[in-house]
Amino acid sequence: MSLAGFTELNHPLIKSYLTVIRDKKTGTKDFSDYVERLAILLACETSRFLRTGRKKIDTPLESFNGYEIIDEIVLLPILRAGLGLVTGFQKVFVNAKTGHIGIFRNESTLEPVSYYYKFPAVKEKKNAAVFILDPMLATGGSVNYAISVLKKSGIKRIIVCSLVSAPYGINNVLKKNRGIKIVTCALDRKLNSKGFIIPGLGDAGDRLFGT
Ligand code: PRP
Repeated sequence: MSLAGFTELNHPLIKSYLTVIRDKKTGTKDFSDYVERLAILLACETSRFLRTGRKKIDTPLESFNGYEIIDEIVLLPILRAGLGLVTGFQKVFVNAKTGHIGIFRNESTLEPVSYYYKFPAVKEKKNAAVFILDPMLATGGSVNYAISVLKKSGIKRIIVCSLVSAPYGINNVLKKNRGIKIVTCALDRKLNSKGFIIPGLGDAGDRLFGT
């Protein structure tokens, strides 16, 4: 699928770690450990959207004109399952602040139901780079809701990060949000009649937290 703003990652570690978490035999501890490893790889890939500035330092031998990330970064996990990606992203984006948005899907209508939102103080909302974290992008309803909340508050630079996504959800998010970037580890085949991603990995929140 080739769409402006959409990237599916193609990386041997990502493919093999994804296979571990897709496997129904993988238990809670391993599931959570591999989600964290995938988050680190996903964060490295999505860091391409960040801007750098020059920074003068002294090496032990001479002065050096190096680089530093100049963007203010906010991680916004969608509760619950997005929490699984936070530690990995924080390890890579060392100065990131973290907000939270609580959304679950109504199981019959598949519509997003929001129950919590907290966003950290940032210097300039229009320049902050906000990474929405959610392992699964199925219908795209939850991500669209999170994007609408961010846009209303003046946030403009939004990058959606997921582990597995369905074509329907990707189209749904891009259609409603010009300029949004979506990076996913895998574009899966389809949604089933209950709105689950196929082949997918089941319910990421339940598998992460053993519920
Ligand atoms: C799952 C998943 C996403 C959402 C994706 O959350 O973690 O947030 O569904 O579906 P969508 O793209 O169709 O909106 P769930 O409702 O299971 O809540 P949970 O993370 O609290 O388990």
